[in-house]
Amino acid sequence: MKLVLPSPVHLRLHDGTPVILRPLLPEDRGRVIATFNRLSPDSTYFRFWTRFRGASPGFIDRLYAADHDRHATWVMIVDGKSDLPGVGGGSYWPSQEDPTLAEVSFTVADEFQGQGAGTFLLAAVWREAQEAGIRRFVAHVLEANHVMQAWWTCLGATAIQHPHGLEMTLQLDESALPDNPTAQRLRHCLAHLAEAPAREDHVVHA
Ligand SMILES: CC(C)(COP(=O)(O)OP(=O)(O)OC[C@H]1O[C@@H](n2cnc3c(N)ncnc32)[C@H](O)[C@@H]1OP(=O)(O)O)[C@@H](O)C(=O)NCCC(=O)NCCS
Repeated sequence: MKLVLPSPVHLRLHDGTPVILRPLLPEDRGRVIATFNRLSPDSTYFRFWTRFRGASPGFIDRLYAADHDRHATWVMIVDGKSDLPGVGGGSYWPSQEDPTLAEVSFTVADEFQGQGAGTFLLAAVWREAQEAGIRRFVAHVLEANHVMQAWWTCLGATAIQHPHGLEMTLQLDESALPDNPTAQRLRHCLAHLAEAPAREDHVVHA
């Protein structure tokens, strides 16, 4: 897998939880499955558009597909708790038709939502996708997923209405980010991931 960021990156969530952000590794497979199995019905629905709990084996295989120069997944785990399920993950898959566009998706475990994990995961896939020539992320967001809609609207994403939800598009252009606290937090994460050395003692609050 091509790595363009310092890896692993040691961070703290808003509540002080120490976490590690790094690309997905082969040994994460069991943790990823456990994290999806523990998701609430609402989070499962917002991520997979189905009420069936857990990720399908096909989806897990897709995360691990060999064409890592085309897609990437970043995961966040609690620092020092390698036996626990993960905090969350974010992935992008470039479009077959347009190499400057990629579909992106995020999942943060219910108990860690609202603590800045999603913003760091977005910053990680943003940086890597930019290096790969991607200029826009698209996310397919259910009508009822108000958190995702509010988040990306604050980041300046545009939205097209479809029968079951929204197709939200975000430009990977820091200069186009709006001037509000949500966008400012993303700028902070992008800057930190671009510059911070991956040292054990280097801890930044999101
Ligand atoms: C969407 C999701 C990935 C966000 O992850 P997160 O770790 O909660 O995100 P953050 O804590 O970084 O917050 C990002 C933004 O989301 C919004 N947000 C987060 N929690 C919120 C809440 N409880 N209520 C309202 N807005 C909220 C805010 O706009 C926040 O930005 P800000 O606090 O900087 O203003 C997470 O809620 C999730 O996994 N949901 C279920 C699956 C899903 O919807 N995936 C996306 C499908 S594409």
